[in-house]
Amino acid sequence: MTKTALITGVTGQDGAYLSKFLLDKGYEVHGLLRRSASADVIDSRLKWLGVNDKVQFHDGNLTDLSGLIRVLQDVKPDEIYNLAAQSFVKSSWQQPLLTGGVTGMGAANMLEATRIAAPEARFYQASSSEMYGLIQEPVQSETTPFYPRSPYAAAKLYAHWMTVNYRESFGLHASSGILFNHESPLRGIEFVTRKITDGVARIKLGLAEDISLGNLDATRDWGHARDYVQAMWLMLQQDIADDYVIATGRTTSVRDFCKLAFAHVGLNMEDYVTVNERFLRPAEVDVLLGDASKAKQKLGWAAETTLEMLVSEMVEADLKRLSRHEHL
Ligand code: NAP
Ligand code: GDD
Repeated sequence: MTKTALITGVTGQDGAYLSKFLLDKGYEVHGLLRRSASADVIDSRLKWLGVNDKVQFHDGNLTDLSGLIRVLQDVKPDEIYNLAAQSFVKSSWQQPLLTGGVTGMGAANMLEATRIAAPEARFYQASSSEMYGLIQEPVQSETTPFYPRSPYAAAKLYAHWMTVNYRESFGLHASSGILFNHESPLRGIEFVTRKITDGVARIKLGLAEDISLGNLDATRDWGHARDYVQAMWLMLQQDIADDYVIATGRTTSVRDFCKLAFAHVGLNMEDYVTVNERFLRPAEVDVLLGDASKAKQKLGWAAETTLEMLVSEMVEADLKRLSRHEHL
């Protein structure tokens, strides 16, 4: 029997990869679409993966509970993936209340809508390694205490605990995936990896002279979004809902990510990267390194894409995109 999934954040990086993954599995895929004046570009990621015509869109916004209830009543999903968020950490200091409203309360709205209109549906919440913040253990697992360092992380922590709470209070099949950073050619241009690969491609093609970055010493556990959406799905196929860390188990500095990206096109990063205070944050998350052994044991999930594969795929995609004057 065909399963039906509803994805919030369907126009984002993960929403696009998850749509493709679920469509390939034979799902009927519905996506929540917030109204935008830029309607012509909003499905560009889905287009890039060739699935924009296969997703059924529904107008809605995470901040509008009654609209969410109506969408759930219409779609009657078997699975709900709550991926929508104000997801850029740096912006969360400039827009703390909006971030709290969308990333925190928005998730509570989705849980509440599910409880009211689709209590039998399985629910996935996009939690984040950013919740570990000022890390309390050198390697972070499901049992590591959280210490959020940004309004974004505080909002995600609220959403995470609301997910646990709705599971324990109302018996919702609600799982929370604590995903470490994951990237791809569809990553937003404001995030550091894509900013670097786009910048490297521009420099290589003679379209730019340098890249201006912030803290080069921060390290992240970077994986590929394509691998990570599989873990989301696996969580919802389990009999019992639970929380899982999803990570590669390898951490790399921004500086070393840069070196790899420049080396891919035969250049040295030292010749092109400058540091600009503008890109520093009021409070930094210095190191993230995840232990995904629970996911490996219970879901049979492990990251497949190495950092080197990820960097080369991203640089190649940006070279191609810029050569063809395409934008994303
Ligand atoms: P993304 O590319 O920034 O996508 C965010 C999505 O949320 C977009 O579709 C956006 O719509 C939508 N959205 C924003 N505000 C909304 C609102 N008020 N109502 C409805 N939709 C709204 O994020 P991503 O990288 O795919 O990440 C997906 C989720 O995982 C996010 O919740 C993020 O915080 C979380 N996460 C990401 C990572 C990572 O490394 N990528 C790691 C851990 C957790 P528009 O297209 O209209 O802007
Ligand atoms: N964006 C950005 N731009 N980051 C920079 C820059 C720059 O010019 N220079 C250095 N960095 C550093 C940041 O200070 C941070 O330590 C690191 O690069 C990664 O920044 P982002 O790529 O913006 O990602 P993030 O780790 O803050 O957040 C992402 O991952 C989280 C999971 O840990 C987002 O996808 C979040 O939504 C997600 O929850």
